[in-house]
Amino acid sequence: HWTPGQIIEDAVARIREMVGTDQVILGLSGGVDSSVAAALIHRAIGEQLTCVFVDTGLLRLGEGDQVMATFAENMGVKVLRVDAEERFLSALVDVEDPEQKRKIIGNLFITIFEEAAGKLEDARWLAQGTIYPDVIESAGGKTGKAQNIKSHHNVGGLPEKMKLALLEPLRELFKDEVRALGDELGLPRQMVWRHPFPGPGLGVRILGKIKKEYADILRQADAIYIEELFQSGWYDKVSQAFAVFLPVRSVGVMGDGRTYENVVALRAVETKDFMTASWAPLPYDLLARISTRIINEVRGVNRVVYDISSKPPSTIEWE
Ligand code: XMP
Repeated sequence: HWTPGQIIEDAVARIREMVGTDQVILGLSGGVDSSVAAALIHRAIGEQLTCVFVDTGLLRLGEGDQVMATFAENMGVKVLRVDAEERFLSALVDVEDPEQKRKIIGNLFITIFEEAAGKLEDARWLAQGTIYPDVIESAGGKTGKAQNIKSHHNVGGLPEKMKLALLEPLRELFKDEVRALGDELGLPRQMVWRHPFPGPGLGVRILGKIKKEYADILRQADAIYIEELFQSGWYDKVSQAFAVFLPVRSVGVMGDGRTYENVVALRAVETKDFMTASWAPLPYDLLARISTRIINEVRGVNRVVYDISSKPPSTIEWE
């Protein structure tokens, strides 16, 4: 039986042998897999690794800064941060259809990644955080959302076009092994044990048309929700939790005035494999606190609802 320390030692040796003195680029998303891949490859080849982090403007509150703090500032990893919020938002203007939104976000992500990678002329390798379940999934040729996980996160087609060789040091590992590696490599607990976050980000959690104003509201509401889950100990008890922005306005009262504002839905699920899931029975007092805080602290929201649908037939994400 292998320990995380042995897996790391073995992977480091293999990476060094494969890569030699070549330069490597890696698309860093801030998710567990690409983060662990980055930390592992950095351990092996240090300065020969350059990460590209694309801020789509559809990330959670403070996420871009957190990624930079963890990798660039604390670990000394070279990270190229690309601020692409405006490009994503303008590509998405008036687009309502969920699959259309996914396609636009995925394609633009690849374009921007290629632009950034193209500047690193002497790169010979493209590193990816592909894990064993991804390998199985793409062999099965799934469609719909799962397909897009591939096209978004694993930058399909890029290696051939750029004449890069693929470096996938996590290819034989399961998620729990990847997490154990992350802990062993000294990544922050909060990054290693974070709930999954979809490639299209808040783009599929703002229903229908995406606007910066909506994204800002959703980021604040989601941050309050997640903070309360942490403080109550519920974050680790559920498999995934997030807020959803509903561009539906309803009437409320605030002081002497009438309000006519948006709705935020809260989702929390328990699941083993994300193929089926049940809604999490969060305590009423916790839900009450979260609702009060969101309505009081986030301008533009006057109603909070809790999603009590399980999968199937409902999916985990709303789009
Ligand atoms: P659903 O909504 O299909 O989600 O029940 C199952 C799991 O997959 C995640 N998800 C995605 N991940 N790109 C991703 O990288 C996507 O387009 C995407 N859609 C859903 C979702 O967050 C959940 O963990």
